Amino acid sequence: MGAGTKRSAHNGGSSNSASTAQLSVLVVHGPNLNLLGEREPGVYGRIRLSEIDKDLKALGRELGMKVDTFQSNSEGAIVDKIQSARGRSDVMLLNPGGYTHTSVAIRDAVLAVGIPMIEVHLSNVYRRERFRHRSLIADVAHGRIMGFGAESYRLALRAARAVVDSAERRSE
Ligand code: DQA
Repeated sequence: MGAGTKRSAHNGGSSNSASTAQLSVLVVHGPNLNLLGEREPGVYGRIRLSEIDKDLKALGRELGMKVDTFQSNSEGAIVDKIQSARGRSDVMLLNPGGYTHTSVAIRDAVLAVGIPMIEVHLSNVYRRERFRHRSLIADVAHGRIMGFGAESYRLALRAARAVVDSAERRSE
């Protein structure tokens, strides 16, 4: 399901009729998030990225959302992925990892595709070093969720559902 397609009311994903289209969600994880579970467990916990992705897909099915996930350590690959969401995804969850604090290119890609984006972080960056307090995507995000570990992504997925539903209600 691509952006801009009209849907009937959310049916929880359990009894899709032909007329009820799923939302399409792209989840993008940035550099070093492939090492979750091993990397600084005191900060990021023990959960692995593959578990987070599996869990999000399952929650997506409950919420009537098709969840595609992507991780890269490379800024250009993240930009390419965000660009590819144009016309394909209805909403995006984006955790750019360290690029949050540095990447004009990722910010520009978000602006270019014009798909609502929710910024996600496992840790509460404001409880950490000062350089993490600046996010180059914060002001182009629909909203930001951080500090709840893997639960941040689950909360963001529910928020994504609400964002698209309320946009559709406004356009009716
Ligand atoms: C992070 C926070 C960033 O500052 C850090 O560089 C990461 C992970 C988080 O999810 O808490 O890689 O985005």
